[in-house]
Amino acid sequence: MAEKKVIAVAGATGAQGGGLARAILRDPSGGFAVRALTRDTSSEEAKALARQGAEVVAADVDDPESLRKAFAGAYGAFCVTFYWVHFSPEKELAQATSMAQAAKQAGLQHVIWSTLENTRQWVPLDDNRMPTLMGKYKVPHFDAKGEADQVFTSLGLPVTLLLTSFYWDNFIYFGMGPKKGPDGKLALTFPMDDKKLPGIAAEDIGKCAYGIFKRGSEFIGKKVGIAGEHLTGAEMAAAMSKALDQEVRYNAVTPDQYRAFGFPGADDLGNMFQFKRDFNEYFCGARNPAFARSLNPELLTFDAWLAKNKSRIPLE
Ligand SMILES: NC(=O)c1ccc[n+]([C@@H]2O[C@H](COP(=O)([O-])OP(=O)(O)OC[C@H]3O[C@@H](n4cnc5c(N)ncnc54)[C@H](OP(=O)(O)O)[C@@H]3O)[C@@H](O)[C@H]2O)c1
Repeated sequence: MAEKKVIAVAGATGAQGGGLARAILRDPSGGFAVRALTRDTSSEEAKALARQGAEVVAADVDDPESLRKAFAGAYGAFCVTFYWVHFSPEKELAQATSMAQAAKQAGLQHVIWSTLENTRQWVPLDDNRMPTLMGKYKVPHFDAKGEADQVFTSLGLPVTLLLTSFYWDNFIYFGMGPKKGPDGKLALTFPMDDKKLPGIAAEDIGKCAYGIFKRGSEFIGKKVGIAGEHLTGAEMAAAMSKALDQEVRYNAVTPDQYRAFGFPGADDLGNMFQFKRDFNEYFCGARNPAFARSLNPELLTFDAWLAKNKSRIPLE
């Protein structure tokens, strides 16, 4: 049998990379093997991947030398950065650059960069519809990812730029789930009016990435976008009401109100939702659920995601 193509997976113990690692490991005859990158090879998550057949290696995206070692001899790499660990777009850009350079040095044949839009191409810094944040960003956790696209392409890497979508898992882990208002009723709160929000089960991002690797050179040099479904706040609230068997309303606040909530990152997320609202046709058009399903036939709809995860949504 031909030797397996090794995919070095950044964030393999997390959501996106973990989804890819598990997709490869579940398909032993698929021709691919996992090299899972982690800062801590002794963690429970790392050990679980090793038990399932992954090669687990120590690497830190802040340490270029560790990335060079981790990418050496691989066929491909899945590259993702971890904005919410440090809240620094500059750091994110430096980490993406280190991964791109390590990929170049290793002569990888296929790199997937998990990216988002550089929103400043739609909303220049002098456009005051939303505040400029940290001096030179509109949506800090998007902008540096989009800026890094060019780092990957300008090095001449065989790269697929993968535009991801809002994780529905944010309703479990990211404090975005339904909350009880003063009337005691549950409400989902965000500033998208009646516009559709492309969403996805986080695990499906990695499964789609696996679909991209499996299709060989087809998506090299391309930017592709994925989502599980595009749904309005009212549609998500209605689906949640049904799944949870209690009323959940959609509370459509304004972007200004959202930014003023004041939790860490509220201004960044307020701008993000406003970008998705104001450029909704572009934003949804760039993330095609039918395409995502062609990469990953197991792609979950929101109803299917809720059926699996409803008991994990904290109802505060
Ligand atoms: N939430 C959303 O809706 C959404 C949507 C689209 C995109 N995103 C983006 O997704 C990215 C995060 O991806 P994720 O959700 O897959 O991450 P995650 O689940 O939070 O964690 C990923 C893993 O990253 C690893 N990690 C953290 N810092 C590291 C470092 N310095 N070097 C190497 N590994 C490191 C950790 O592994 P170890 O501890 O094992 O090292 C962790 O298990 C963010 O940049 C975010 O902006 C989020």
